[in-house]
Amino acid sequence: MDGKIGGKMEHYFSKNPGVKSNKKTFEYQFRGETILFNYDHGVFSMGKGDRGSELLIHTFIDKNPCLKDQEILDLGTGYGFIGVILKKTYPHINLTMSDINSRAVELAKENIEQNSLTATVLQSDGFEHISKSFHYILLNPPIRVGKEKVYQLLNSCHQHLLSGGELWLVVRVKQGAKSMGKYLQSFFKGVETVEREAGYHIIKATK
Ligand SMILES: C[S@@+](CC[C@H](N)C(=O)[O-])C[C@H]1O[C@@H](n2cnc3c(N)ncnc32)[C@H](O)[C@@H]1O
Repeated sequence: MDGKIGGKMEHYFSKNPGVKSNKKTFEYQFRGETILFNYDHGVFSMGKGDRGSELLIHTFIDKNPCLKDQEILDLGTGYGFIGVILKKTYPHINLTMSDINSRAVELAKENIEQNSLTATVLQSDGFEHISKSFHYILLNPPIRVGKEKVYQLLNSCHQHLLSGGELWLVVRVKQGAKSMGKYLQSFFKGVETVEREAGYHIIKATK
């Protein structure tokens, strides 16, 4: 997930990771199909889907069996785990995937292409380069950037949702799921914990 360069720790949310690349591929089985994911040093989650992200995407799909034409954002996409599974499940959605990390963005583009999918994949710090509004935003938040920045990101998500739009989040109880839920209640119309498993909460916040 992180790497050491010149004695300093580098985090997965660096804009331009300096840690040496060591790109590899893993296979992920999803509903009887094999999805290929390239991953690399300097990008979140090495060699397998993150457990929280898996719970988020599986819960989202279970609760939304049929989506078409909706605008969906996979914010902080990393190498594209959530976005690729979304597009595989709902071929007709308009999918945007974004990350602050240039290496993550390149991997997400590769993973969309190598699984014969299409999406808009772009580098953006939050919504810096994203002007449109969405029906759904999915986020496994970058807890390591600190509470203030994560909360700013949640605020920006609210601004970039259409009326009635939904923000879907995964957060661990030990990383402040309950206080994050309370914070979201201060500006979202409805906030619900739709799933709880192994210390993870899936929160749905409706605008
Ligand atoms: C916990 S990881 C989740 C990655 C991916 N969605 C997954 O499930 O494997 C959070 C991601 O948010 C990205 N990130 C951090 N700060 C960001 C920001 N300000 N704007 C966009 N992405 C950011 C990180 O680079 C990282 O890829």
